[in-house]
Amino acid sequence: MRYKAIIFDLDGVICHTDQYHYMAWKRVADDLGIYFDETINNRLRGVSRMESFEIILERYDGKMSEEDKIRYTAEKNEVYKTLLKNMSPADLDGEIKETLDELREKGIKLAIGSSSKNAKFILGQLGLGEYFDAVSDGNNITRSKPDPEVFVKAAQYVGERPEHCLVVEDAKAGLEAAIAGGMDCAAVGDAVSCGLATWNLNTFSDLKNVISSEQ
Ligand code: BG6
Ligand code: MG
Repeated sequence: MRYKAIIFDLDGVICHTDQYHYMAWKRVADDLGIYFDETINNRLRGVSRMESFEIILERYDGKMSEEDKIRYTAEKNEVYKTLLKNMSPADLDGEIKETLDELREKGIKLAIGSSSKNAKFILGQLGLGEYFDAVSDGNNITRSKPDPEVFVKAAQYVGERPEHCLVVEDAKAGLEAAIAGGMDCAAVGDAVSCGLATWNLNTFSDLKNVISSEQ
C-alpha cells in the first residue's frame, strides 16, 4: 500500500472553525478601526496566529509594537477559545467520522497536522480527544505552513516516511507545505482550485476511493 499514514489538517478539513476565527479577529480589527471581511479572513487559513495578525495589520495606518501585537493576538485567542466552547461532538460530520473509521480499519495510521495551538482542545470538543495516532500542531513547530515542519513532525510521530504519507488540506499554504515535505496531498474545498494537489476531493469520503485505488 502506497499510503501508510494520512495527515489531516484540522480547521477546514475535520471541522469548521472559520466563522469563530472570523468573529474573534473581527472583534480585534473593529477595536483597532481596521477594515476586515470574510475575504481577508480566507487568507488566514493555515497561517499561524501571529502571521494572521500581520495580514490584518496590512490595513493598519501606523506601526504597532511587538508588545501590542502579543497583547492583541492573546485577546483574539481568548475570544476564540470562548467561542470554541460551543463546539460539541454534534459538530463532527457523520461522513467524516465514518470515513476516518473505515481508513483506520484498513490499518492506515491517522494523524493531525495543524498550525493551531488550540488543536487538542478542538479535538476534545469534537469527541476526538484520543482518536488520532498522533497530533502535530502549533505547539510543536517553530515555522508555520507553507513550511513543511508540521507535517514532517506528524510523519515522524507515526513513524512513516514522507512518501508513505498523504496530507489532506483545505488551504494553499497547506498543500505547499505537504509538497515541500515530499508528501502527496489531497485538496478539499477551496484548495481544489489551486491545482496543486495530487488528488482533488469533491467530498471527504472520496478519500476511501483514493486509498482503494492505491492499494
Ligand atoms: C490554522 C487556521 O489551523 O490555525 C488559521 O487555519 C489559524 O486560520 C491557525 O490562524 C492558528 O490557530 P490558533 O488556534 O493557534 O490561533
Ligand atoms: Mg485548514
